[in-house]
Amino acid sequence: MPVSAPEPLNKTHDVSNFACGKPALDHWLRTRALSNQEKGFTVVMVVHDSGRVAGYCGLAPTAVVPTVLPRSIKTGQPPNPVPCLLLGQLATDLDWMGHGIGTGLLRHALVRCVQGAQLVGGRALMVNAIDSEVASFWRRRGFLPSKDDPLILFRSIADIAASVMAAGIEPCGSNH
Ligand SMILES: CC(C)(COP(=O)(O)OP(=O)(O)OC[C@H]1O[C@@H](n2cnc3c(N)ncnc32)[C@H](O)[C@@H]1OP(=O)(O)O)[C@@H](O)C(=O)NCCC(=O)NCCS
Repeated sequence: MPVSAPEPLNKTHDVSNFACGKPALDHWLRTRALSNQEKGFTVVMVVHDSGRVAGYCGLAPTAVVPTVLPRSIKTGQPPNPVPCLLLGQLATDLDWMGHGIGTGLLRHALVRCVQGAQLVGGRALMVNAIDSEVASFWRRRGFLPSKDDPLILFRSIADIAASVMAAGIEPCGSNH
């Protein structure tokens, strides 16, 4: 089942039957994603098959108190709050799960984070894991748990940039 390249969510996309197995993420896509995007809270990127959304992710700026950061990311005398980016959502519809869509959306989001941080700063990418299984998904991808909560994880933008470069992607010259 081929899907589109990632593109910004718009009202022509069909989100009505999206189901990833985590109702909160389904509900957010159906009811909040478009208005959040229109108001500038979140950039929502989707991949779709003839308009039907197969996967999506949401990125937003955020800021956190330094004390929640893992020690290796907190380093030095950071400002309070610390500017960060938030990958608030990542989900694949069950009909497409296990075919690389989540990996592709995440790669796309990581490149965007590096590009965004180059323009306006940002120390780390933060993710909120819904449960401990999802937290281990993020730890396998280089994210470190926060000091206070194992379900909030961070990966430094410097670390992400290094992995993006190692993969042969040039963030400055890319539109993706
Ligand atoms: C996590 C998720 C986005 C992965 O999407 P995907 O398109 O299936 O991803 P890929 O095919 O690229 O595989 C990536 C990972 O998903 C896992 N995966 C594949 N099929 C899966 C399935 N049916 N159920 C659960 N995880 C699955 C793979 O094991 C792989 O993880 P690993 O490399 O750490 O072992 C997807 O399982 C999902 O939407 N889960 C529900 C929402 C969620 O928990 N999102 C997490 C962020 S809040």
